[in-house]
Amino acid sequence: EKDGHDWFMRKEIFEQPRAVADSLIGRRTAAGKLQLDEMRLADEELRDIDKIIIIACGTSFYAGMVAKYAIEHWTRTPVEVELASEFRYRDPIIDATTLIVAISQSGETADTLQAIRHARSQKAKVLAICNTNGSSIPRESDAVIYTHAGPEIGVASTKGFLTQLVACYLLALYMAQVKGTRFGDEIDEVMRQLEAMPDHIDKVLQGAEQVYELARSHVGSRSVLFLGRHAGYPVALEGALKLKELAYIHAEGFAAGELKHGPIALVEDGLPVLCVVPPRGRDHLHDKMVSGIQEVRARGAHTICLAEEGDTSIEPYADHLIRLPGVPVLLQPLVAIVPLQLFACELATALGHDVDQPRNLAKSVTVE
Ligand code: F6R
Repeated sequence: EKDGHDWFMRKEIFEQPRAVADSLIGRRTAAGKLQLDEMRLADEELRDIDKIIIIACGTSFYAGMVAKYAIEHWTRTPVEVELASEFRYRDPIIDATTLIVAISQSGETADTLQAIRHARSQKAKVLAICNTNGSSIPRESDAVIYTHAGPEIGVASTKGFLTQLVACYLLALYMAQVKGTRFGDEIDEVMRQLEAMPDHIDKVLQGAEQVYELARSHVGSRSVLFLGRHAGYPVALEGALKLKELAYIHAEGFAAGELKHGPIALVEDGLPVLCVVPPRGRDHLHDKMVSGIQEVRARGAHTICLAEEGDTSIEPYADHLIRLPGVPVLLQPLVAIVPLQLFACELATALGHDVDQPRNLAKSVTVE
């Protein structure tokens, strides 16, 4: 049942190329137009939306953070991302032109369910992104995009996360198509880039042994930091969450630009810092990340950098380098999270923990 793997989680990590490919099947018409058949929201309704609020918990919340970057960039519609457990307690401003996007792998998370009930009572439309057919959250939503991860058994979400990202990209692109934004011409190109992702993820998985070795050399670590910027920031947060919940090691993710505003005080000799380096591009994102890495290293951090192939600028500052395929920054989370999942899984295994059933956690959290 685990396909020769020791844990369901490891099996599910290795299923990710397939899960991403499945989530892309049937999304284009013969003429190349994007379609989201099962969604049940009319194009006119989508066109009227002037604000999106994404609500979710945990890993699904981090998928929502990535979605914000993608939706705002491609559709120019403002997006807020909110923890479901906080949402209804802050008197959120919602009305009939607000689209609530609820992201939940299980579809049974009580915090998210209560939040969408509140939103619907305020007349907002709710779109669920969910992996579980017929579960409570899609049943109580106006519309749904199903992810096609297949059952996720390991308590820590992995393939669920990647397929949520794909669903968010599809939603963003579909909205761009419907709204006819300036970006419209590029939809086809992004779809092709998405369709290439299963192969890229596969390539990252082929480097698993190198990541495992690295993980095993960190069994004595008491604290690990994760840094990222832009779409790499939620990846850093998700990498830290995986390590906390599986290896029970203190881990924190930061936006690299925030370091100098406080967290850099944590850096001491030998502290492992995992850095998600953005692809080299026209903006200064990449160079700023590199200088952030330089700074933590100058203060004694042991830097483990995830950077695209061919990026030599990072070499002098990386104590350890994990190569990623070259992909656009908005899609990079799909490849960058994979080594972090492998790292947490292997480190927890080396520490003798039950990876599939971490202490104190349940697969679906049906209490508020
Ligand atoms: C982390 C994890 C949790 C869930 C969260 C939301 O690995 O699995 O943080 O992501 O409890 O669950 P869903 O997506 O089922 O609403």
